[in-house]
Amino acid sequence: MMKEKIDQLLAEIDTLTAQTAEQAEELRIKYLSKKGSVSVLFDDFKTVAPEVKREVGQHLNQLKNKATEKINALKEAVEANGGPAVAGLDLSRPADPIAPGARHPLSIILNRISEVFSHIGFAVEEGPEIVDDWHNFTALNFAEEHPARDMQDTFFVEGEEKMLLRTHTSTVQVKIMQTQKPPIRAIMPGRVYRNEAISARAHCFFHQVEGLYIDENVSFADLKQTLLYFAKEMFGEETKIRLRPSYFPFTEPSAEMDISCTICGGKGCNICKYSGWVEILGCGMVDPAVLDNCDIDSKKYSGFAFGMGVERIAQLKFQVKDLRLYSENDVRFLGQFKSALL
Ligand code: DAH
Repeated sequence: MMKEKIDQLLAEIDTLTAQTAEQAEELRIKYLSKKGSVSVLFDDFKTVAPEVKREVGQHLNQLKNKATEKINALKEAVEANGGPAVAGLDLSRPADPIAPGARHPLSIILNRISEVFSHIGFAVEEGPEIVDDWHNFTALNFAEEHPARDMQDTFFVEGEEKMLLRTHTSTVQVKIMQTQKPPIRAIMPGRVYRNEAISARAHCFFHQVEGLYIDENVSFADLKQTLLYFAKEMFGEETKIRLRPSYFPFTEPSAEMDISCTICGGKGCNICKYSGWVEILGCGMVDPAVLDNCDIDSKKYSGFAFGMGVERIAQLKFQVKDLRLYSENDVRFLGQFKSALL
């Protein structure tokens, strides 16, 4: 009986492992403490028949020595490595450095624009990049022969005559008006596409943020105040705005908005072409025909809309001279915006 128990424990001791100092200590308690399984056998030893006492005694001492050696060795191993003893692995070696990424400059600008408008209750909405002619042009009051519909300006989907890559985020207005009921207050950021030769100042894709506000009694004064708030939040309290009459098929009246040049403060520099003003967006009162096209009652509701280029705003904020840099993914460029908090 006793001998079998000893043999069983001897075999068990051989298989012991420990990953941490705590586990090694648990093993010591399990086998070698006062109530441990090895010590308990020493108590039982008193009952062993005298004729086998000598033999069993030797065996028992062997077990105790082996258990002590094994557990001490495990303790040493985990303490030396500060972790599991694995051959060929130096866990104290310093780790390879990880280069933290940075947000893309256009994302920084977009996030800031979203934040500014969210403070005055605008939701952020998105729409598809491939749309039909009706959503991109017709619903927005573009005449049938409008030059923007030309192949020279717009990318059409091959084989699908009336499907195209959206040329402006104004198309998202249509989707929102068709699917929501006033009051509507939303900005719509996204990528747009135009058939342009790529250069420092033009690209075949870029980003816009559209804005739309539809409710009863919305006036041009609401539009102006909203845009003034935006300009001050985005470019600083001292920023001034200027609205110039313009034309867009989907707004009436329409305007373009300039802000006082953020680079020279209005004194005149090459960014503002020495005028003291830089154009940042187009805007206007939503044309009643557009409301009707989208099933919103133009007798009851009115609204304003605006659209701005994200690259343009980024250029004013970060003074990036070449548009191509935004899509080339050169980490030397992208890394410069690591600490750009707006
Ligand atoms: N969609 C116009 C463009 O791409 C920008 C624009 C102008 C949007 C006036 C508007 C607006 O919502 O009211 O140039």
